[in-house]
Amino acid sequence: MLKFLFVASLLVAVALAQTESLTSAEEKEELERIQNESAQYSFNNKINDQINDGQIEREETREGTKVTGSYSYSDGFVKRTVHYEADENGYRVVKEDTQPIGEGPEFNPEGKADVEGSLIGSYSIKLDNDGDKKHYKDVRA
Ligand SMILES: *[C@@H]1O[C@H](CO)[C@@H](O)[C@H](O)[C@H]1NC(C)=O
Repeated sequence: MLKFLFVASLLVAVALAQTESLTSAEEKEELERIQNESAQYSFNNKINDQINDGQIEREETREGTKVTGSYSYSDGFVKRTVHYEADENGYRVVKEDTQPIGEGPEFNPEGKADVEGSLIGSYSIKLDNDGDKKHYKDVRA
């Protein structure tokens, strides 16, 4: 009898634990849904490299479950820009643009590269022309 009671209470305990974990899984999903719907961020960054003749740009914004953004690069031959969005239905490109811009990158040892970003601020670098020209130096204003 005592053994039966022990097994029975063990079964009740297991059943309760399962109900509890089911509830907390539902709670977790609800919390995740709320977090998804209220999520917000925005960032951008840009590098304009006049030493190696290349540009890179990126920006992205999230409003709830919808993310929109674009990235772009120029390599001296083309400037390519891709606009995208992502949501419950996945990621998709909404606009793509490729423009011819030249015959290839032109190296300019006297040029500078400007770096700019929402999280990093902005700064510039140049080739270290006083040294061996193989290194860059920060020319932050
Ligand atoms: C929350 O968003 C993520 C990423 O977009 C997704 O994988 C997940 O299924 C979403 N959760 C809910 C509960 O909507």
